[in-house]
Amino acid sequence: MSALKDKHIILGISGGIAAYKSVSLLRLLRKAGAEVQVVITPHGKEFITPVTLSSLSGNPVVSEFFTANTGEWHSHVDLGLWADAMVIAPATASTIAKMANGVADNMLITTYLSAKEKVFVAPAMDLDMFAHPSTRRNLATLRADGVEIIEPEAGELASGLVGKGRMEEPERIFDVLENYFAEGEHLKGKKILITAGPTYENIDPVRFIGNYSSGKMGFALAGRAASLGAEVVLVAGPVELPVPGSDRIRRIDVVSAAQMMAACEEHFDTADIAILCAAVADYRPAACSDHKIKREGREELTLSLVRNPDIAATLGARKRPGQVVVGFALETDHEIENARAKAARKNMDWIVLNSLRDPEAGFRKDTNKITMICAATGEAVPFPAKSKADVAADILDCIKD
Ligand code: PMT
Repeated sequence: MSALKDKHIILGISGGIAAYKSVSLLRLLRKAGAEVQVVITPHGKEFITPVTLSSLSGNPVVSEFFTANTGEWHSHVDLGLWADAMVIAPATASTIAKMANGVADNMLITTYLSAKEKVFVAPAMDLDMFAHPSTRRNLATLRADGVEIIEPEAGELASGLVGKGRMEEPERIFDVLENYFAEGEHLKGKKILITAGPTYENIDPVRFIGNYSSGKMGFALAGRAASLGAEVVLVAGPVELPVPGSDRIRRIDVVSAAQMMAACEEHFDTADIAILCAAVADYRPAACSDHKIKREGREELTLSLVRNPDIAATLGARKRPGQVVVGFALETDHEIENARAKAARKNMDWIVLNSLRDPEAGFRKDTNKITMICAATGEAVPFPAKSKADVAADILDCIKD
């Protein structure tokens, strides 16, 4: 039975070409047994008719503040109280801007402002609109307000351009909602420390030793943990990624392993769980030149390297009873044995194995393929390749018990 059965969902639709996809979302919600009330903006009705939506939802569609011929007032307050969740799909740049600034000039926004439960937003717009600083700012405001943003995909857009802005597929939006109700906020009250990305170890003012980690895996973990109710401290190496959508995530930017170590040491003792996903440089130059090293007059340059602190091993050694430490292992051979040995050496409770040999796993990819290894039992559970968001969900699911 779906976790959405008998749940009251407000489906908000604003005026974008992706409104046609809302019909599929509505059908999926109804099929799962949810009660759906559609609220549509005046522009939304230019893309999809209320007749279709009321037939499929089994409820009259709400759009205006009053029914013109009877003067009957539609109560956004009652709708807000009725709903177990609200999802706005598609959410145009204009609707996002109004939500972020409380511009209550249509029924969808007044309903949003009255909603008491979780709100999800699936943006849909052209790539330049999505990338525009004003849209980024408005989305950041919504995230800070606790709204969960279901990120759009990159792909072909209605304009014919190709880029990020295409509304996420209805099946995926449905999954987000179903997961929300299935799992509730089971990490509520937990503090989770997550490391992500690479570290850079400076050689001189213009050069460094680093690696290819993009931070995607660690950021996906932070986003998922926050949507499950956790307070997250995300210690991020030098990466370009925006903070995943939640005011429950505190991001601390660092560059080197030493800085990452210091941030982790500061937050570990108050954390319930530490997930060490960063690809930390094992060595750093013994000395960092304070001027650019010149090549003139040198045929060879020898760098002397010293070992960096092992963050996972340091935290593992000082773990208190009840605290959970999860590490990652990026291996190329004898993968399971090496990962098990690493978990034992660093006193981890779980280790997430991903292989560099796997084309769907590892650095920079949007997917990962992991094996979860439990240190206590030695059990190794392989998972199929999935998006990093779904892998993050699997990891948090495995470690919850
Ligand atoms: O960032 P992406 O592009 O999404 O890529 C994700 C990832 C491939 C970086 C990620 O999934 C991953 O595998 N991270 C760990 C990579 C790594 O450094 O593995 P390792 O086997 O060298 O290290 C083992 C564990 O010790 C890791 O938890 C690591 O964070 C930790 N470690 C390692 C060295 C060190 N000095 N301090 C550490 O804490």
